[in-house]
Amino acid sequence: MSEYKISIVGTGFVGLVTAVCFADRGIKTICSTRNEKNAEMINKGIPPFFENGLEELLKKVVDEGNLVCTTNREEAILKSDMTLIIVGTPFNHIDKSINLDYMEQAAIDIGKALVKKNSYHLVVVRSTVVPGTSRNMVGKQLQNHSGKELGKEIGLIMQPEFLAEGRSIEDTFWPDRVVIGEYDKKSGDLLQELYEEFYGDHIGEKCPIIRMNVESAELVKYGNNCFLATKISFINELSRIAELVPGVDIGKVAYGVGLDYRINHRFLGSGVGWGGSCFPKDLNAIVAFARSQGLEAQLIQSVIDVNDRQANHAVTLAEELLGDLKGKTIALLGLAFKPGTDDMRYAPSRRITAEAVSKGAVVKGYDPKAKESAQEAFEQDKTVITITDSVVDAIKDSDCAIICAEWDEFKNLEPSFFKSHMRTPCVVDGRRIYDPILFSSELKFRIIGYKLKED
Ligand code: UDX
Repeated sequence: MSEYKISIVGTGFVGLVTAVCFADRGIKTICSTRNEKNAEMINKGIPPFFENGLEELLKKVVDEGNLVCTTNREEAILKSDMTLIIVGTPFNHIDKSINLDYMEQAAIDIGKALVKKNSYHLVVVRSTVVPGTSRNMVGKQLQNHSGKELGKEIGLIMQPEFLAEGRSIEDTFWPDRVVIGEYDKKSGDLLQELYEEFYGDHIGEKCPIIRMNVESAELVKYGNNCFLATKISFINELSRIAELVPGVDIGKVAYGVGLDYRINHRFLGSGVGWGGSCFPKDLNAIVAFARSQGLEAQLIQSVIDVNDRQANHAVTLAEELLGDLKGKTIALLGLAFKPGTDDMRYAPSRRITAEAVSKGAVVKGYDPKAKESAQEAFEQDKTVITITDSVVDAIKDSDCAIICAEWDEFKNLEPSFFKSHMRTPCVVDGRRIYDPILFSSELKFRIIGYKLKED
């Protein structure tokens, strides 16, 4: 037994949450990052980013001595029995294919460290990687740099994670299933043992452990994200059809459709589309992967295209209400890709801003959490937006408010509130949080997926 049972390479959102959850169950965990400031913060019990519930749990596990963070990757590996690789796998901007640089470097570093280790070591790939990566890249680099044999002295697993931001601690403690993609039986048995200990009674009918080869496990993750994004793009396309027929409400339609047990209502919420750190990168990566093998993944490509169009549709609805947007002021409410996070990665607000600015509008924006990250994101995009400190500052003297993320802070706003602050009281509800009958009786109003008869 080593000093730590688990080491984790990478302390991003999935890496740190995973580390903290293991440590909370009394499993000694050491995580490693190259970022000295982050390591220092983690060792003080302070998360370097916001995630629901993380602060309390991190403080607890650090105080109990079950979690430490080091900037020395080799130390983390040598002091543990198994290493989880949880590094970023972003996409290359030119062809949108997956960028495996961090993954490859992690495999090389682990391989080099293992030269100094005399006992068996299990390596678990948890990052999302295209099929073939764990065996052909990670496995090969481990063998090449350690001089040891995979399946004998080193074990290899691909275990996808399914954590959603804002609920990642719940998702870690109570998953629907544990997918173990095993290089060999011994590796699979060892990881299964760990999860039986970690999850106890939760494992069973509610949460089966399913075992398969590494490539199948890699594809499970893409299947998952592609299907969820497909449900959203599907309902968004249906919502555009709904808007063609006055009186049809996509909310009611989605409810009716979702009651079919084969479909279910989850991820049938229409709006300005999906964003975030996973769906955009993973859908693009799997399309690029298929293309590299000579296959056009037409459906998944369409899911991406429908999503790109959906953000612009919010601007079209604003135009329907205001006419030409040139010189008009648009206020975006909710800038993060979803409520409960300050994550601006591929947030629909970025596409909406670019579209509105291209039509000559002046854009202001407010988000309860994402002020700084939004500032950075828009600077990167080179789009001009004024980020305000409150909803009132955003909508004051503006001509149209567009709801881009459904933060609770916006849900109880009344038509009178918009009327008292805006130059032209006009709202586009891009997340379907307002009562369309009430709002359209008081001000100029459009909602995704429902064109009122009276319009
Ligand atoms: C997602 C997956 O849910 C998770 O399993 C995976 O590991 C990572 O990607 P996340 O990106 O954190 O998680 O957010 P999620 O809650 O899935 O939402 C993604 C996007 O879809 C958001 O922009 C959200 O606003 C949008 N969405 C979600 C909809 O537009 N409608 C819905 O019904 C649900």
